[in-house]
Amino acid sequence: MQLDRVVSVMGNTIQHGHSSNRAYLLKLGGSPDIAARSLSDIAVAEGYSKVIAKVPETMLDAFTAQSFEEEARVPDMYAHKGDGVFVARYFEPERRNESLETTFESVRALAEEKANNISKNLPEGYTITTLKKNDIPEMINVFQQVFKKYPFPVHDAAFIEQTMLEETYYFGVHFREQLVAVSSAEVDASMGNAEMTDFATLPPHRGNGLASCLLTEMESYMRTMGIKTAYTIARAVSPGMNITFARAGYRYCGRLPNNTCIAEGIESMNVWSKAL
Ligand SMILES: CC(C)(COP(=O)(O)OP(=O)(O)OC[C@H]1O[C@@H](n2cnc3c(N)ncnc32)[C@H](O)[C@@H]1OP(=O)(O)O)[C@@H](O)C(=O)NCCC(=O)NCCS
Repeated sequence: MQLDRVVSVMGNTIQHGHSSNRAYLLKLGGSPDIAARSLSDIAVAEGYSKVIAKVPETMLDAFTAQSFEEEARVPDMYAHKGDGVFVARYFEPERRNESLETTFESVRALAEEKANNISKNLPEGYTITTLKKNDIPEMINVFQQVFKKYPFPVHDAAFIEQTMLEETYYFGVHFREQLVAVSSAEVDASMGNAEMTDFATLPPHRGNGLASCLLTEMESYMRTMGIKTAYTIARAVSPGMNITFARAGYRYCGRLPNNTCIAEGIESMNVWSKAL
């Protein structure tokens, strides 16, 4: 698997690579004008067809001035700085075209239809815990079975260990002492938000409500940490993932067309969020 690189450019954290064929501003650290220019420069140098940034709404003008357009908006993502906006610029117009648009709309409609259904309780025999360094080999086993491709190197022990040291909290479900489902909350404590991510349930255990139970558990953990806003970037094609978030009270915030290399290839992603 070809891995994306995460680099720091003038204080901005940027992930980029040929698998997702894009550059992504993960965290704005410096001037928004410079960040927007750096993304475009990287795209031109590497031949990427899309660049995307996650930024406070107060920085939006700097990006739109450089031909970026808003794709999704998370209300109150940044403490004291308002909404978080996903802005993108395309270097090849066809990258925007979504051949599965009708599927995405029906997945979203199904998720919203099921939003009021009651979540299942954790079935008998299953337990949820936080995951620590000694769980990493089993976590890798789950990620390897579930994801052929993934935007971050979750098949690499050193990477997972590093993220554990940098405010990513992993949770898991065990059945008969075997880890069968994983998720994580990637926390930005200074901004009061967390990305609920890395959901993976082993195929024989799917449909038992494990993803929903993990999400509920992570939300209560986040509340105790004072996190105010939870959001996710979910595969637009996945009924299970979109249903999980809609049912937990998350609101749809927009779609990122052909954005992320995950599972089989580059996929569109739905953004959902919730005030905790
Ligand atoms: C997405 C995923 C984590 C969901 O895990 P899970 O533990 O099975 O989820 P849950 O059982 O909590 O709930 C999923 C809901 O979606 C429904 N669902 C799942 N697949 C479905 C499908 N193809 N069509 C309709 N409904 C579907 C389930 O029936 C369940 O609803 P219900 O409670 O009304 O029966 C799991 O399918 C998975 O690992 N997928 C591959 C990895 C992935 O895509 N991760 C997400 C990355 S963004």
